Amino acid sequence: MSDLLTIGEVSRRSGVAASALRFYEERGLIASERAGSGHRRYPRPVLRRIAFIVFAQRVGLTLDEIGTELAKLPPNRAPRRRDWSRLSSKWTSRIDERIAELERLKLGLTECIGCGCLSLDRCKLSNPGDRAASLGPGPRYWLGGRPT
Ligand code: FES
Repeated sequence: MSDLLTIGEVSRRSGVAASALRFYEERGLIASERAGSGHRRYPRPVLRRIAFIVFAQRVGLTLDEIGTELAKLPPNRAPRRRDWSRLSSKWTSRIDERIAELERLKLGLTECIGCGCLSLDRCKLSNPGDRAASLGPGPRYWLGGRPT
């Protein structure tokens, strides 16, 4: 098994489109070497960085935030377990927030979510006159706010 992978191999193994890999590289999130032909060659540990990027995006981190986190990894060697551990420890609250959002999503859209539509019967009780708007934009109760 080669330690240097072509962009097609990285794309197949990571499940991320080659165009997205080039984009990540332009943003400085991953790096490649150039073969004699000029084609990109990625060190195998890049797969872990890509997995990190994909999941960090799912958790809700922006590419800038992801870049800041990845910049904390050692530049001259493949990150070790404790390097990744240091990175993920800061995620705990973000992941907890995301889990709470997904739990609320799972409960469905049958209750008032405080979006301002006032279209459900229960809106008249839960959000009379769109009081939820005072909490800020968006579906306030879905985002974790409570009816006052
Ligand atoms: S569901 Fe939109 S304000 Fe109640």
